[in-house]
Amino acid sequence: MPDRKTALITGASFGIGAEFARIFAREGYNLVLVARTADKLRQIASELEKAHGTRSLILAADLTDPGAPAYVIDQTTRADIQVDVLVNNAGFGQYGFFAQNDLEECLRQIQLNVTTLTHLTRLYLPGMIDRKDGGILNVASTAAFQPGPLMAVYFATKSYVLLLSEALANELCETGVSVTCLCPGATATEFHKRANATEMRLLKFGSMDAKTVAEDGYRAFVAGRPVVISGFKNWLLAQSVRFSPRKLVTVIARKTQEE
Ligand SMILES: NC(=O)c1ccc[n+]([C@@H]2O[C@H](COP(=O)([O-])OP(=O)(O)OC[C@H]3O[C@@H](n4cnc5c(N)ncnc54)[C@H](OP(=O)(O)O)[C@@H]3O)[C@@H](O)[C@H]2O)c1
Repeated sequence: MPDRKTALITGASFGIGAEFARIFAREGYNLVLVARTADKLRQIASELEKAHGTRSLILAADLTDPGAPAYVIDQTTRADIQVDVLVNNAGFGQYGFFAQNDLEECLRQIQLNVTTLTHLTRLYLPGMIDRKDGGILNVASTAAFQPGPLMAVYFATKSYVLLLSEALANELCETGVSVTCLCPGATATEFHKRANATEMRLLKFGSMDAKTVAEDGYRAFVAGRPVVISGFKNWLLAQSVRFSPRKLVTVIARKTQEE
């Protein structure tokens, strides 16, 4: 296929990001796959080459490294790849009381969820604006809609992603470039295990599957919607927060975060 566009997906090795890779490949995109686990990226690239003839550039990078965004754009430039869609999906959470959590891990969380996402967006956006084509798909969370005791920093990083995305979507209207923010609720991936949060009460209410969540994000992106909350139950919860006293919302969030 000669005129394929390219989607760059961060955190494409597992979970929602791997499903985004499968969806964009199915839709005829070539891929730039970024994460630390090179083996998984190679496996996904090979699967998608067989299924769709997708060409993938694999970048094994730790995106908590402040130099990583410059490395990523340098690699795509050297490979003469025009990034048409940037999917800022990589992210992680840290469970526990803020004052007791490991500080370095906490700062890496902010670096990945906030700084790297902002940095990559700023690096790739001007090219999209010049071409009057392309878009950004950011992955926030339903955590973005309220404070989250026991994952205080994670919730705050996701609020940042939501607000940044909505503001950029507004700034970019009429440019031909769109910004969409996907807000998943609990989703069955590696996320909670990695965050040491598998016993949270919230998870007893069930999780969505990563494929459904990524499909919701993709559809909203294609439709040019600035925000999509995946799943009706999650949408309802996010709406209910808007009409409730913030103190009460925070108390309820604490209850659902507790084990
Ligand atoms: N699962 C949920 O319940 C849920 C709910 C709402 C929002 N989200 C958001 O959805 C996004 C995807 O998470 P997921 O649920 O799919 O979790 P996941 O299965 O843990 O996948 C996270 C992805 O991010 C990558 N990643 C993590 N740290 C990285 C680093 N330092 N450098 C490069 N890549 C890194 C991982 O790759 P490597 O380990 O190979 O580097 C992996 O591919 C995240 O932004 C998360 O906050 C998840």
